Amino acid sequence: MITTTQQRRQSSILSSFLSSSASTSTSFTTPPIPVPIFLPFFSKGTKTATSLFSSSSSCSSSSTISTRLGRKITQYTIDDSICLPTKGITLKTSVHKACRSLDIYLDKKPSLPHTRDAFKVLLEMIEMNNDNNSNNNNSSSITTVYDGIVLDSGCGTGRSTKILARDIYPHHLVIGVDRSFSRLTKTKDNRQSLGADIDVDGNVDGDETYCQQISENAYLVRAELVEFWECCIDHGWTTLKITHHYMLYPNPYPTKKRLMQRWYAHPCFPLILKLNVETMVIRSNWEVYLDEFAAAIEMANDFYDHNNSTNFVGNDSDVSSWQGRTSSSSSSSSSSNNLALPYLSSAKVGPIERIDKSVALTNFEAKFDNVGESTYELILKRK
Ligand SMILES: C[S@@+](CC[C@H](N)C(=O)[O-])C[C@H]1O[C@@H](n2cnc3c(N)ncnc32)[C@H](O)[C@@H]1O
Repeated sequence: MITTTQQRRQSSILSSFLSSSASTSTSFTTPPIPVPIFLPFFSKGTKTATSLFSSSSSCSSSSTISTRLGRKITQYTIDDSICLPTKGITLKTSVHKACRSLDIYLDKKPSLPHTRDAFKVLLEMIEMNNDNNSNNNNSSSITTVYDGIVLDSGCGTGRSTKILARDIYPHHLVIGVDRSFSRLTKTKDNRQSLGADIDVDGNVDGDETYCQQISENAYLVRAELVEFWECCIDHGWTTLKITHHYMLYPNPYPTKKRLMQRWYAHPCFPLILKLNVETMVIRSNWEVYLDEFAAAIEMANDFYDHNNSTNFVGNDSDVSSWQGRTSSSSSSSSSSNNLALPYLSSAKVGPIERIDKSVALTNFEAKFDNVGESTYELILKRK
């Protein structure tokens, strides 16, 4: 449970923007259902965890010190000494550019057929599972079988996907998505159910991706998130279908240079809003990440508020660095609606500290909890 409201840095981000613009670990006993499907994987995954995170595989409470203000600083803490909060004008520029140029970005970014293939396989597996479980011969659609879809983006080992499916959303379909095969297959359960294609070190032959049912209502998919979100939108999984979107401890990229790799400053940011989910849940140990995520919603709202949709088709200079695809994406206009408005009021509430540590949803969360690192949650509810 989250009980404490944290002091907000967001107001300073926004005022600077306005002035410039006028647990404990959980074990899983249910054996996963072994239905892995492999497809050729066309592009090698890139290393995504920051050096900060990749160096954090071991931890001990001895790495924790207390500051005079009582806040614990651990080996994982990201504070102003590691990365200063983004200037309002800088964040505004990124967010507005993303809102203006989403379609161009999606058209020009390299196409990732392996993600589209994995999405197709996922659909087939879900349909097959629903048909097998249905009492009659009629094909059951997702909406008749489940209360909705929960997306667990950047699920890592899938620990959160399992907990969400088993304990929090037993009547939903929960889909964990990650680009890293080694993380997705890190747990013994997941590895065992994959069978002979995996060697003793957990490596899979060649560049392959997979889609796997890990429990009755949960699947793991190896995919690139932007392409996967596009697939969800193209497939009509927006309003009422994907009800909840979890982004748990996304890579924080705590350097100025990597700002545009953080989801809220990334060119795909409006696509996240376009999923139009009922509730987004974003957690991080870096409170500023969540402050800035919330501020980005307000900045996007400001953009959509002040700009007529047809005036914003973007221009090629905005996307000169996004090489590749020339075909038109079927994920349509980025700016015909105010995609940010539904989330505005909860963005204004901002992140709160996670106090109840009885369940660690993810491995990163467990590491942070174990050393007493503070963690925060931003909940964005659609109005
Ligand atoms: C810091 S880890 C957090 C993992 C997990 N949510 C946790 O809290 O333990 C971020 C995860 O996001 C995944 N990721 C980052 N960017 C991605 C992308 N563009 N597409 C798919 N997965 C991505 C990484 O592979 C990594 O597993």
